[in-house]
Amino acid sequence: MRFKGKDLLGIEDLDASDIDLVLSTAESLREVSEREIKKVPTLRGKTIINLFYEPSTRTRTSFEIAAKRMSADAVNISVSTSSVVKGETIKDTAKNLEAMKPDCIVIRHSASGVPMMLANYVKCSVVNAGDGAHEHPSQALLDMLTVKEKKGAIAGLKLSIIGDITHSRVARSNIYGFTKLGAQVTVAGPPTMVPPGIEKLGCRATSSMDDAIKDADVIMMLRIQLERQKESFFPSVREYSRLYGLDEAKLNRAKKDVLILHPGPINRGVEVSSEVADGPHSLILDQVTNGVAVRMAIFYLLLGAAKE
Ligand code: CP
Repeated sequence: MRFKGKDLLGIEDLDASDIDLVLSTAESLREVSEREIKKVPTLRGKTIINLFYEPSTRTRTSFEIAAKRMSADAVNISVSTSSVVKGETIKDTAKNLEAMKPDCIVIRHSASGVPMMLANYVKCSVVNAGDGAHEHPSQALLDMLTVKEKKGAIAGLKLSIIGDITHSRVARSNIYGFTKLGAQVTVAGPPTMVPPGIEKLGCRATSSMDDAIKDADVIMMLRIQLERQKESFFPSVREYSRLYGLDEAKLNRAKKDVLILHPGPINRGVEVSSEVADGPHSLILDQVTNGVAVRMAIFYLLLGAAKE
């Protein structure tokens, strides 16, 4: 089966069979990272550029590791030392990078829609590594892979996404992805952080933390994104944490086998306590491990034999 299109810009553009294809490909590639020599020749001769206009630890590193495990050449551009600081536009940057004949550009940008703009300027594949509050498709795919690994299937599960829904590209991509695979998604947070009309994406919205956690099979806690908040959305961090932070007392009111996800980076003691983040329900580091497999699968499906 082939992956449609040259780019991966968002989960909204995919259907359930596309998502299943990425997950099953990632499942078969996961063992490469367990080998003594963690490398397959599949993408030998391909060039992948990581172009990150925003900070990243997990996404950038795992895209680079994924490229290298597939034997592609990976180039990281640090925006702070590139000609972007001299005022070069996205279009000029794209055209100049394209002139070096890459096969794929992975881009993260603070403005929603920039990956789509880039995809229209270049012939090579473009992968969205997070654009503003719009989408973070590879994060949602690794989240779905992690839940599928632990629960066997996603259809019929109840997922609650809790926190700053308004500013979260992770929430948006996961709402699209989990609902397409047949899960019931609830979003929860202070009314100022749950955008009106979010239900149109196929989820249920509540401002009650208890309501969100009581029947959930999976709880996804979100980081408070102070860098995207132009005004204060809650009276104090302490009050936010008391009402919407996940600690052991609240976790005791959830299902005994509930899974806890967080995309990272964590604000420990704010949206999640250290006991919960490091406890037996937490899959936070499994998510990071699965991030490499998912990104290998994305490259394979966009650039590899599956495409040809
Ligand atoms: N989850 C995530 O996108 O983390 P980074 O910002 O570290 O890439």
